[in-house]
This record gives sequence, C-alpha cells and structure tokens, in this order.
Amino acid sequence: MENKKEKRGQFSSKLGFVLAASGSAVGLGNLWRFPFTAGANGGGAFVLVYFVILFIIGFTLMLGELSMGRATMLSPIGAYRKLKSKYAWIGVLGVAAGFLILSFYSVIGGWVIRYLVKAVSGDFNVTDGAVLGELFTDFIQNPLEPLVYHGIFMALTVLIVIGGVAKGIERYSKIMMPSLFVMLILLMIRSLTLPGAMEGVKFLLIPDFSKINAEVILAAMGQVFFSLSLGMGTMITYGSYLDKEQNLISSAMEIPLIDTIVALVAGLVILPAVFSFGFNPEGGPGLLFITLPAVFSQMPLGSIFAVIFFVLVLFAALTSSISILEVVVSYAVDERGWSRKFSTVTLAAVIFVMGIPSSLGQGLWSHVRFFGRDILDNVDFLASNVFLPLGGLLMCLFIGWVWGVDKAIDEVTNHGKLSFPLKGFWTVMIKYVAPVGILFVFAQATGLLELILGAK
Ligand code: TRP
Repeated sequence: MENKKEKRGQFSSKLGFVLAASGSAVGLGNLWRFPFTAGANGGGAFVLVYFVILFIIGFTLMLGELSMGRATMLSPIGAYRKLKSKYAWIGVLGVAAGFLILSFYSVIGGWVIRYLVKAVSGDFNVTDGAVLGELFTDFIQNPLEPLVYHGIFMALTVLIVIGGVAKGIERYSKIMMPSLFVMLILLMIRSLTLPGAMEGVKFLLIPDFSKINAEVILAAMGQVFFSLSLGMGTMITYGSYLDKEQNLISSAMEIPLIDTIVALVAGLVILPAVFSFGFNPEGGPGLLFITLPAVFSQMPLGSIFAVIFFVLVLFAALTSSISILEVVVSYAVDERGWSRKFSTVTLAAVIFVMGIPSSLGQGLWSHVRFFGRDILDNVDFLASNVFLPLGGLLMCLFIGWVWGVDKAIDEVTNHGKLSFPLKGFWTVMIKYVAPVGILFVFAQATGLLELILGAK
C-alpha cells in the first residue's frame, strides 16, 4: 500500500522522453537481431515485408500503447484493469512476454560484454573469418563463461532500474544514443568501402520476390514488434511516466523513425562486410560477433573503435533491457505493492535463471532442439513471433472496440488541445487494418489461410 503513495516517476522533458523511448526501441533488436534475421530470410525480401508491416503497425500501435499508458498512469495490467477490468489478462500476457524476452536478451547482452572485454584486451587482430568464427563458437559453447556474463548483464540492468525512471534512464541516454549513431555511421562508411561490399548492399536492399513466403512474413512481423518494443506494454509503461502536456502523436512517429534508421544502418554495416569477407549471410545469431571484429581489423585505429563501439552497443542493450525489466517490476510495484528494490532484485534473479537454458543450448544442451531450432531461438520465436503480435492484436481490438477510439483520441490530443490530422487514418488502422493484418500473418504462418481458401 505504502508504495502507491510514492510519487510516480516522470520524464523531465520531451527530448528526455523520446530519447528514453528510443533507447528502449534501439538495442540488440536493431544491431544484432535485424541483420541476422534479414540475412536468414532472404535479405531484400525480408526488408520489404518489414517496411510494409512497419507502416501498418509502427505508428498505430506505438500511439495506442502510449495513449493507454498516459490515460491510466499505470503499467500494462493496471492500465487494462482501469479501463475495463475484465481485460486485465491482456496485460498479464505482456508481462509474461517480458520474462521470456529478457531471459534471452540478457544472454546476448552477456555476449556483448564478453566482446567488449576482448576488444579491451586487443584480441581482435584476426582477419581470418574462420578463426573469428571459431573464437565465437568456442565462447558460446563453453557452459560456464557465458553464464557469468549473462549474470553481469542482468546485474547492470538491475542497478539502473533500481535508480528509478528519470534519474536512471534519462540521464545516460542523452549522450550515449547520439554517440552510438555517429559510431554506426563511421562503421557503415568503412563497411561500404570494403572490396565486394556492394553485393551485401544489393542483398539487403533489392528484394527477390520469390523469397517471400509465410515464414519470412512471420519473421518480419516479429522483428517489427521486437525492434519497436511493442506488444508487451513497454510503451504503456513509458507512457505512464509522461506528463499530460507532452505530444504523444509526434513521439509515436519519431520513435519508429529513429529505430528504423538505426536498424537499416546496422544492416548496412553488417551485410556488406559479410559479403566482403565471404561469411554466410544465413549465419544466425553469431553474425554480428563474427563480422564486426573483421571490420575493425580493416580500420585505422580499429582496436580503439572496437572498444568504443562495444561500449555503445552494451549501452544500447541496457537501455532496452531496463525497459523490459521495468514492465515486469512496475507490475509488481503497482499491482502487488512490493517495494521497487525487492521486486527488481527478485524478478531479475528469476529471469536470470530462466535464461540459463538458452545459454546452455549453445553448447552443452545443443542437442535439445524443437522445430529445428535451439532453445534460445525457440524462446525468441515464442516471445517475438507469437506473444508480442498477439499482445498487439489484442490491444488494437481493445482500444478499437472496448475502450473506444474516441477516448484514446481525446487522450492523445491532450483533450482537444492538439490537432490530429491523421485521426481518421489511425482509427481505421487500429480498428481494422492492423488487427486484420496481424491475423492474416498468423493464419498464413499456421497454414490456416490456405485451408480457408481451399488451396492445398
Ligand atoms: N526493442 C528492443 C531492441 O530492439 C528490445 C526491447 C525492449 C523489447 N523492450 C521490449 C522487445 C519490449 C520487445 C518488447 O533491442
């Protein structure tokens, strides 16, 4: 009960909010997941579908989540409950997705820390792709070492979340996010000027339509949700920390725009280098870790750049992981009345344990495979391709048909003070186009669509 009286944290400025929300969106999803997922799903075909889905759900769902958060000033479960109590379970689904996502996110965050340590100790003077590949597999197959780094990453996340919203999150974002961007541009220039780099650019940007299939479409949808931090209520939570004067409409455009630019630039760092060094674009989750050291080895002052870069990647990963933990923690604080510190430490410990199988699945337990995927890929698939889109679908239906679009519009226009020229567009998108689109992708991926249409 006591905690309810604690003053709810708030962002101190519009810039602070957009940076923090972009900090949540921009992370391993852009730098690590986007390049390898594009690589594994046909390159340009994937990117094209990604853009179509981004257009349909990016702004629509971002604004939806922000409006629910600020209207209620509560975390997801509380927000649904306050607006219509029997729908609180939709929020529960989001919190569950948060547990799953952070569990493997932190494992990858740990890999980043390991590579930062390697960069600091100057281990990157290798140009031979095969050797870089081996270094990577040796590391992730080791049972213990990655778990130690997974623990370190989780501990860092905990430390920031305990610091609270404005102090903990906002302060750091202002310097680190722009620095990351500058660094990525430098790397992109280096990558694009490597011999044979244009093959990678073509691979990423020119769609081969014959590669578009149900699997690619589902992967692209999952990537949009993952990258924009949508579908589990992260943006509901962030919206709840926002004061009533801020402009949600422009934020809901800026955040997806920033996120998309970063993902594309990251793609233009990794894939040209992949082709130039003769790596396999379908190399999977190791792509970033194998390719980047090769790029640094081809740069003047590469070993210094490597250190700076991995610091920034780590930072970007942390600004995302804190937003995931924040959802889970604010649920415990708002709904259970636990203290912030206790919730943070306890829940992080649970999530750390949940991440252990994903880490061990790289080596010791690599024989444990379902649907042709290792443990980490399965957890990722379930969370990103199933839970997040499902959460997004339910939110659209909730806003469109239960809470009411007019109430959401009243909130995002600050009760009529702001003009919202896209009002009609947004209404149609959230009531019809986005939910039907998500259902369509699900139906196609499960083979249901073909069944319905009578094809075989
Ligand atoms: N979007 C982040 C990234 O790209 C990860 C992330 C943060 C996330 N919060 C989320 C993903 C909520 C899904 C849901 O790295």
